[in-house]
Formats: sequence, C-alpha cells, structure tokens
Amino acid sequence: MFPGSDRPAISEVDLTLSEGRVLAILGSNGAGKTTLLRMLTTLAAPTSGTAKVAGHDIIRDGSAVRGRIGVVGQYAAVDEVLSGRANLELFGRLLGLNRATAKRRAEELLSQFDLIDAADRPVGKYSGGMRRRIDLAVALICKPDVLFIDEPTTGLDPVARRDLWAAVKARVCEGTAVVLTTQYLEEADALADDVVILREGRVLVAGTSWELKRLAGEPRTEVREPTLEDLYLQLHTGPAQVHPGKET
Ligand SMILES: Nc1ncnc2c1ncn2[C@@H]1O[C@H](COP(=O)(O)OP(=O)(O)OP(=O)(O)O)[C@@H](O)[C@H]1O
Ligand SMILES: [Mg+2]
Repeated sequence: MFPGSDRPAISEVDLTLSEGRVLAILGSNGAGKTTLLRMLTTLAAPTSGTAKVAGHDIIRDGSAVRGRIGVVGQYAAVDEVLSGRANLELFGRLLGLNRATAKRRAEELLSQFDLIDAADRPVGKYSGGMRRRIDLAVALICKPDVLFIDEPTTGLDPVARRDLWAAVKARVCEGTAVVLTTQYLEEADALADDVVILREGRVLVAGTSWELKRLAGEPRTEVREPTLEDLYLQLHTGPAQVHPGKET
C-alpha cells in the first residue's frame, strides 16, 4: 500500500519460478509490475506477506537475497560519466570481486554484449540500445542465480530487441532464472516459459505460456499482409530471421 493510495499496489500474488526458466509479468501501465519487482528484489517492503528468492526470505534475509540476484531497473542505474568498462569494474568491486576478477569479468561482458568498441566512452554518450546492454551486463557481473529485468526492451528498435532477447536466452541456457516485466506480448511470447498477467495489482491469470495460449482458443492458421516490421527486419537481418517457421 503506498501512502495516500486507496488500494494496494500489489495484493494476493503467489508465484513460483525454477532455475533456467523465464517468468514474464505482463500488465498495462500502473498494473503493479515495477512494484512487484521492487518487492522481490528487496528495494521495497510489502506491508504483509513474503517471498523466497534463491532460497532466501526477502524480509528476514534481504542481504542474502541481494547477494544472489542481478537487477536491471526500468530506468538505467549505471553512472553516466564513467565508461562502460569503468562501470562494470566499479560494480564488480562494490559487489566484492577482487580487482583482477572484476577486470576479467568486465572484459568478458563487454565482449558478450558487443560493447568492446564503446568500452571506454562515457555511458551518457551511448545509444538507448547500448545503454540497455550495459545495464544488463552490469547486472550480470557477479553471475547471479536470478536476474530481474524491468521492461528489458522498451524504446529499442526491432533488431536491438532481438539481440537483447538472445542475450537473455543465453543466460537462461546457463541456468539463470529470469523474471522480467513487459508490456509487449511478443516479448513474453519470445522469452517466457511462465506468464503472470497483472491488473490493478492482482493476478488476472497465471500459468505456463502454453497453458495461457490454450485459453485463447484452438491453434489456427492466418494469412496476413507483410508488415513494415517484416521489411525492417529483412533489411537488417535477412529474410531467414523473419520467417523462422520456414525451413532453411
Ligand atoms: N512511490 C509511489 N508512491 C505512490 N504510488 C505509487 C508509487 N509507485 C507506484 N505507485 C502506484 O502503484 C501502482 C503500480 O505502479 P507500478 O509502477 O508498479 O506499475 P507498472 O505496472 O510498473 O507500470 P508501468 O508500466 O507504467 O511501468 C500505480 O497505481 C502507481 O501509481
Ligand atoms: Mg513499471
């Protein structure tokens, strides 16, 4: 419950997530996605109820939770004046890595996120897509068990969005559990194993992505006009990526 509000921002939410799975929290503006994420990452305390993250209670054992998670907020949290490399090393050191390990992890992540060329430029001069990549890289500096991402791709172009999805999927393949919020249904479709749809702070529906799709009806084949997004992706990544169902 926020001061001055007549309803709880979140109530009666019950979620479970296992390692190597992606949970997408969907909902329109103000549905409570960020508030739920802030509670799970110990940035805000619930007025009642609790949760366990990576086996630790968010209320009684907040510091243990913080030691096992990575968080990418809805708005960038990295230092704009420092370079990408300096941000990574700084966060690594703040989170307890020794100098040599922080440097090594920074180089690994700069390379994985295609930021080597921009590594020594101030983050304030990065494009939106690069900023999202450095945010994600910083959240991964200590190899978290659970990664929380609030609206991973809002404001990104279609190619940057697909690149970021691929980066998240790579982490999931390594066993990281991911909780993300999104307003983009195709993002949940592309990434999520489990889906929760929130409305006014309550769970409207929850289940595996497959279960929820079944609720929408039987499979059907639709013929549709090509879209501008199809053209955009063809121009940038080639037709094979635009028609993933087609045998190549
Ligand atoms: N610090 C705050 N003080 C008072 N009310 C708040 C605060 N933060 C959020 N709220 C309210 O809590 C509700 C949920 O907000 P929240 O930011 O969690 O929504 P959201 O689903 O993340 O929305 P968006 O898609 O716009 O990011 C809203 O009604 C919002 O106005
Ligand atoms: Mg939000």
